[in-house]
Amino acid sequence: MLLVYHMLAAALFQIFSISGNWVLAKNINFYNVRLPLDPTPFPNSFKCFTCANAVDNYNCNRWAEDKWCPENTKYCLTVHHFKSRGRSTSVTKKCATRNECRLVGCRPHRDTGHTECVSCCEGMICNVEIPTNHTNAVFAVKHGQRTSGGSSKTISIPLLASLLIITLL
Ligand SMILES: *[C@@H]1O[C@H](CO)[C@@H](O)[C@H](O)[C@H]1NC(C)=O
Repeated sequence: MLLVYHMLAAALFQIFSISGNWVLAKNINFYNVRLPLDPTPFPNSFKCFTCANAVDNYNCNRWAEDKWCPENTKYCLTVHHFKSRGRSTSVTKKCATRNECRLVGCRPHRDTGHTECVSCCEGMICNVEIPTNHTNAVFAVKHGQRTSGGSSKTISIPLLASLLIITLL
């Protein structure tokens, strides 16, 4: 299933209350993607927008696959490859290890010579944007991130508390 479908499902109320045609418009707010409470494969698991050589950022995010990142990864990586005169580009996004994220920044590509900017971020589907210059081609580690691990803990504490009360009674 596509990652964006989660957002569309979460926005069903808006679709019915406003109008049906904004879904088809080219302005999906990818920051608004709400993930369903599907089972997490392991603690602190997360997702990234994932695509390979998309024509632009919109098409990368729009058709991004919806799957959990492998357990050995910790970040979301984005590669923005500029082609002839910045007109057409290529966007690649994926889950990444800390080692892969050491490549952040902008530099000429080894083979093509075209500029390539790489950025990394930490957190649930944090790689919405693409790096365009040295200002945003960075390694952004966030605190207070949207991960799946926290919510399961907040559910289990009241549960444990009520079990304790029941036991004491
Ligand atoms: C870098 O790119 C961002 C977004 O395109 C832009 O707002 C910013 O001004 C750019 N910074 C430099 C130093 O070119």
